Amino acid sequence: MKTILVTGGSGLVGQGIKAVEHKYPTCKFIYVSSKDYDLSSMKDTQKMFETFQPTHVIHLAACVGGLFKNMNNKVEMLEKNLLINYNVVKCCHESDVQKLVACLSTCIFPDKTTYPINETMLHNGPPHDSNDAYAYAKRMLEIQCKAYRENFGSDFQCVIPTNIYGPHDNYHLEDAHVIPALIHKCYNAKSENVPFVMRGTGKPLRQFIYSEDLAELIIWTMEHNTEPTIILSVPEKDEVSIEYVARLIARSFNYHHNLRFDTSFSDGQFKKTADNSLLASKINYKFTPIEKGINMAVEWFINNYEIARK
Ligand SMILES: NC(=O)c1ccc[n+]([C@@H]2O[C@H](COP(=O)([O-])OP(=O)(O)OC[C@H]3O[C@@H](n4cnc5c(N)ncnc54)[C@H](OP(=O)(O)O)[C@@H]3O)[C@@H](O)[C@H]2O)c1
Repeated sequence: MKTILVTGGSGLVGQGIKAVEHKYPTCKFIYVSSKDYDLSSMKDTQKMFETFQPTHVIHLAACVGGLFKNMNNKVEMLEKNLLINYNVVKCCHESDVQKLVACLSTCIFPDKTTYPINETMLHNGPPHDSNDAYAYAKRMLEIQCKAYRENFGSDFQCVIPTNIYGPHDNYHLEDAHVIPALIHKCYNAKSENVPFVMRGTGKPLRQFIYSEDLAELIIWTMEHNTEPTIILSVPEKDEVSIEYVARLIARSFNYHHNLRFDTSFSDGQFKKTADNSLLASKINYKFTPIEKGINMAVEWFINNYEIARK
């Protein structure tokens, strides 16, 4: 039986793994959050490995946030993430963990690049200035895993998800990613019977993956993948505009008649298209259509409003 330790177990992706773990009866999953161990402390991290003696590790824990949090907390985004990643990877090595799957993000790719981005392009130029602290800390995680592979033959791999959404997200109105922030905004607008106002034109394009789909793909990576680094994303053809997503959210709330766009706000990057052909060459995965995923995410938020992170 594999003992799989999931760091960041209380978060969006960690809870996605919890929701699908019953499909993997030969694995025992252990979930930890910052309330159990502060992984920016080496002492805490060592204690966690001694306690659980994992054979496998899925490393999700990170200081994560949207544009605003990334721009205003650069020291924390850099230092906390560097420390967390350094400690977890080193302890995986010292505890003879058989396999580590560590989580990166498509938002750490070079700012100036051609599209679609693929696994070979991660270090080809500086990231966008707005999230450089987070991005460089994450890029170092990839370098650290590569170094362990090369020096010690460790089976330490990285996965690169695109934008994720689903139950248990962070719904903070300023710090959150676009889908949870829009869900919370639409909830408030409907409660107060005021327009649901979206910042920007809604024209930018994104690939969104449902958290439980990503969870299954991360476990597939743990069990079957041999690539050192792999993008986990819906295909390019499933890229949608933010406007389309806002309309789906408004429709889920039955509030689509009252959606407005405030174009005085800037749009951010127009697109960040990722190429999932490496993944598609290895597994024929049926992704949850975004229309269904948004309905499930909205329903979860409504039913769990009191406990949702916001
Ligand atoms: N969300 C996205 O759209 C997205 C996109 C691409 C990649 N990713 C990556 O996917 C991974 C999971 O993201 P997520 O969205 O699930 O994040 P999340 O919901 O914000 O959860 C973050 C997790 O990390 C834990 N954590 C934070 N600081 C910690 C510390 N010092 N010590 C121990 N644990 C700590 C949190 O614990 P507490 O709950 O106790 O704070 C929580 O369990 C991250 O590596 C992220 O970079 C996310």
